[in-house]
Amino acid sequence: MLRTATARITKKSALPITRGSFSAAAEDPLGTMRRLYEEHGEISALEDGQRVIFVFGPEFNQRVLSDAETFHSYFFPIRGPRDSAQRRLTSGLLSQNGARHREQRRLLLAPFQKRVFPAYVQRIAELTHAMLRDWRVGQTRDLHVEMNSLLLRITSSLLFGLNDSGLALELGEMIDRWGAMSQRIGLAAIIPQPQSHGRYQGLLAYAEQLETGIRRMIGLRRCDPSGDDVLSILLRSQAAGDGLTDEELIGQAALLFSAAHLTTAHSLTWTLFLLAQHPSQGRRLSEELTSDCARPALHPVESDSFLDRVIKESLRILPGSAYVQRVAMKPVSLGPFRLSRGTVVVFSQFMTHHMPTLYEQPERFHPDRWLSLRPSPYAYLPFGAGARRCMGGPLAEMIMKLVAPAIWRRFRLRVVPGSTIDANAISTMLAPLTPVRVQLHPLDAPLKASPVEGNIHRYVEMVEV
Ligand code: HEM
Repeated sequence: MLRTATARITKKSALPITRGSFSAAAEDPLGTMRRLYEEHGEISALEDGQRVIFVFGPEFNQRVLSDAETFHSYFFPIRGPRDSAQRRLTSGLLSQNGARHREQRRLLLAPFQKRVFPAYVQRIAELTHAMLRDWRVGQTRDLHVEMNSLLLRITSSLLFGLNDSGLALELGEMIDRWGAMSQRIGLAAIIPQPQSHGRYQGLLAYAEQLETGIRRMIGLRRCDPSGDDVLSILLRSQAAGDGLTDEELIGQAALLFSAAHLTTAHSLTWTLFLLAQHPSQGRRLSEELTSDCARPALHPVESDSFLDRVIKESLRILPGSAYVQRVAMKPVSLGPFRLSRGTVVVFSQFMTHHMPTLYEQPERFHPDRWLSLRPSPYAYLPFGAGARRCMGGPLAEMIMKLVAPAIWRRFRLRVVPGSTIDANAISTMLAPLTPVRVQLHPLDAPLKASPVEGNIHRYVEMVEV
């Protein structure tokens, strides 16, 4: 976080500014944003030699997100030298702006349209059942580990190979490792460390290996382009003359995987945790799933179900993406600030979703609030808003609506009593920092919330509504 802060401070004034340390903010992004909101309200700056602007709430979200010409996205901290594998791997949508972004986004849309989803459903079902085959009543499982591993399989398979997931999985693991290496060095860029040069060279070398793997996968898919995975669909558009080049595919493949895997895994972990800790809501979901047994077990449900409200509410209270940043490309006024070119602006889904003016008792997990609530796209934005709204949002929701009920139909989950559950934003995602261990109980066992410790209590009041 805050790694691209380059704006210079030109004068001192009575603006809503807090002086602090960027490295402390990077350690606790959510705590920092909350303090800024409490001190200054919907817009403020954190100053540490340079200035980063924080905006909270629908009005400023809209201002920033609907002006993609002024506020650009720069997602990857380390781009690497021109013509390097690292540069190509970090050239996906979230590094593109303006006309190029619009054009590439159009070329990427085909595999994310709902009419393609039936091809994905069977694979998601198979992989979920494969995971559950090893789950037994009496065991304790770490939801954080299990969901990361399941989503690694699902994402690799949907993106790179529905039929032979061996190589797809290998590629997914490599992209995860590359993402983690980039993130470590990204932090080192604002907190210089003696070992960062060696790490940088290591990252560039690993990027070459990863690029070789993606090129190999592209070659294989091209030999048999009949598949229904995302890569095959994109290669068919390419063959039809309206598609991405191979170089572009490399960057988009790395971006798609990075954007999809952990966001969805964390969101599922939080949904299951919230259900386990709110027995009356968990019970209602069980009842709905039981009465729904005429429907095929893994059919994505319609949007008026209780499950739908559970997912919506979980993405509100613990959104998989906690904040996002933009960079001003020209001098511009924003609230009381006059931003110079290069100023970083942060907006936060987490903060907006916890504003009491928008959501009554925002720290309560209350799925039924969605029976009547219709917030604007800038007040509820787990998948962002505007020109860069998440392309994979409907796919992520479908995955969540398939996986969560598959687990809920088989077990009663009880969080291990006395667990410490900490969460914070890592690389913009709201991630568990601790294991989220649950005991697997039979379906006739009573649902029971467990006493837990940790900073999760700052974000969720563990009481029944
Ligand atoms: C629960 C899971 C997910 C969450 C919370 C999430 C969240 C987001 C958010 C907030 C953005 C906007 C970023 C910005 O404004 O800069 C975004 C963009 C994006 N997401 Fe997702 N996402 C999820 C799953 C997925 C999946 C499954 C895919 C693809 C398979 C995906 C692909 C993308 C892409 C390609 C973009 C960039 C769009 C653009 O720049 O035009 N996401 N996502």
